[in-house]
Amino acid sequence: MTTTALITGANKGIGFEIARLLAARGVTAVVGARDEERGRAAAAELGQPYVRLDVTDESSVQAAAKWIGEEYGALDILVNNAGMTIWQEDPRPSATTADIMRQTYEVNVFGVVTVTNAMLPLLRRAPSARIVNMSSELGSLHLALDPDSPFWPHNFMAYNSSKSALNMVTAAYAKELWDTPIKVNAANPGYCATDLNGHSGHRTAEQGAAIAVRLATLDADGPTGTYQQDDGPVPW
Ligand SMILES: NC(=O)c1ccc[n+]([C@@H]2O[C@H](COP(=O)([O-])OP(=O)(O)OC[C@H]3O[C@@H](n4cnc5c(N)ncnc54)[C@H](OP(=O)(O)O)[C@@H]3O)[C@@H](O)[C@H]2O)c1
Repeated sequence: MTTTALITGANKGIGFEIARLLAARGVTAVVGARDEERGRAAAAELGQPYVRLDVTDESSVQAAAKWIGEEYGALDILVNNAGMTIWQEDPRPSATTADIMRQTYEVNVFGVVTVTNAMLPLLRRAPSARIVNMSSELGSLHLALDPDSPFWPHNFMAYNSSKSALNMVTAAYAKELWDTPIKVNAANPGYCATDLNGHSGHRTAEQGAAIAVRLATLDADGPTGTYQQDDGPVPW
């Protein structure tokens, strides 16, 4: 039986690597991308299907769900990977506008809700679906407030709080789906060199993809409602 995955924002960076690693395991890794040209090019490189999907555009998300339903009947894995940050010359919270917050949340939080709700009927049709939300260590309230943490200086209110919100979104879906076979977890890929950070990360996108792949392919006795990185749980 085919295992089908949808990875949002899979045309480049960590999402592309998640699609590549899942495909290498025999999964049909549907490349979700908002730009048709970039999405088709990535899908062709991977030899995987493409679906157009802008997480901020409900109609494109509904159309993607309809297409996946017609093509595959069910969805085994959803990786909510698409994410963004807005570069700010002055990143202090006092210089961060509500509009910067809103734009960031549109993709990193509301986009995940739009995609997850649209895909849930298909995920429920799979025998034991997995949902992985790409969070960040910068979303950890525990680490943010620890002066000894390496993340203490990185006080990016819009991006960081969007990932904290995503963590609670992860917990909320995990609770609703607690008594079903569907597992919902948040992944921290670590600091990876991608376009998101001008390639300043010290890890590769492939290294960042590994935790998402692990959570996407958990056994039946695997956890739900957790926030994890390569070496185990991240403090919320
Ligand atoms: N890199 C890191 O160090 C790091 C650390 C922690 C967490 N993360 C998270 O990991 C995920 C992947 O990031 P990355 O580093 O691989 O960044 P990236 O290379 O910039 O890739 C981001 C992906 O998200 C897509 N995207 C953005 N807005 C979208 C929208 N409205 N609809 C659909 N797709 C959209 C982008 O598409 P376009 O090409 O069309 O813009 C791109 O495919 C993000 O959620 C990020 O927050 C990254």
